[in-house]
Amino acid sequence: MSNGGGISEAADAGRRFGPLGRALVIIPTYNEAENIQAIVGRVRTAVPDAHVLVADDNSPDGTGKIADELSVDDEHVHVLHRKGKEGLGAAYLAGFSWGLEHGYGVLVEMDADGSHQPEELPRLLTALKGADLVLGSRWVPGGRVVNWPKSREFLSRGGSTYSRLLLDVPVRDVTGGYRAFRRETLEGLGLGDVASQGYCFQVDLARRAIKAGYHVVEVPITFVERELGDSKMSRDIVAEALWRVTAWGVRERVGKVLGGRGASGGPGVSRAGGAAAGATAAEATAAGAAAGDGRAAEAAAEPRAVAPSGEPRAAEAADEPRAAEAAADSRAVEPSAEPRAVAPSVEPGAVDPSSDGREPGAPGDPR
Ligand code: GDD
Ligand code: MN
Repeated sequence: MSNGGGISEAADAGRRFGPLGRALVIIPTYNEAENIQAIVGRVRTAVPDAHVLVADDNSPDGTGKIADELSVDDEHVHVLHRKGKEGLGAAYLAGFSWGLEHGYGVLVEMDADGSHQPEELPRLLTALKGADLVLGSRWVPGGRVVNWPKSREFLSRGGSTYSRLLLDVPVRDVTGGYRAFRRETLEGLGLGDVASQGYCFQVDLARRAIKAGYHVVEVPITFVERELGDSKMSRDIVAEALWRVTAWGVRERVGKVLGGRGASGGPGVSRAGGAAAGATAAEATAAGAAAGDGRAAEAAAEPRAVAPSGEPRAAEAADEPRAAEAAADSRAVEPSAEPRAVAPSVEPGAVDPSSDGREPGAPGDPR
């Protein structure tokens, strides 16, 4: 098997993924005073090597202050204070910038309210060893939701289905917010022009990654509805998602009809995954994404590799002949042809979820 036991031989033939760098778990918060301490503690226990960044939008309930207190006692905890409520998307973009600036190799999205269980994070990170982006997924076999009202489940499933069909993205859970990105993936997504504010931010990023040809894998998770505090889901957030997804879909279709590059151009992916990473029609089963991690094998019931529906963008491939060739036949290429697949030039010490939590020499302590 290629890449250590994993994700789909077909998808990854010849593809090697660089080692994972240090992980930063970004937790956006708005009025999560009742949850923030517990979630940070759970992350620190579940993946002791990882750092945490709380991205707080000046929560009136004092979440930011509690996070500050946590950061005083723990050098793995950092806080980004933002001036006011600007939405989940903006908070994540700020968190990603901060994490990339500070040299992290893996950036994780996680809600503050316990819905995304930190104890499942090692499985996501293990799957990321053989992928560019891992999506925690409620709607693949092995994934589930606990304590959600039917109405909410309907909204989420409906949103995912609508997005999947309209945008042609073969992802079951396209709105989910528990994800792990390699830094190179984020750097290649052209985040500068992301306008999504609310939860459609998640759809936006998934669609960009898939259209750009990144190797995206869904790993089943158990999403547990919050017990404390309130969801920030609102009518406005649903409305934004609906109109944006519809607009993206229409634009793509028009682009396709007009023929040419507009086909996947909507998202404004600036650095195409010209190299067509993981581009395959195979929907691969990758149980045990992890070499030598029994928990992963057991729990990752069925990570699914998803394939870009369209032609991977080969725009930049002109000066990258191997990538062009690869894009043409939808096969993965050797990492040497593909800058974003190689290890970060500064290797910040791999996060080994099973390790004992000692901090390996990291570049520039982000404090
Ligand atoms: N900084 C900041 N600013 N954080 C925010 C904002 C904001 O404007 N709005 C929400 N958050 C934070 C919340 O404090 C929480 O940590 C996280 O974002 C998710 O918010 P919830 O309100 O708990 O979301 P949900 O449970 O309704 O929605 C979940 O499912 C959605 C649909 O599947 C989340 O996982 C979403 O990410 C997901 O899109
Ligand atoms: Mn929630």
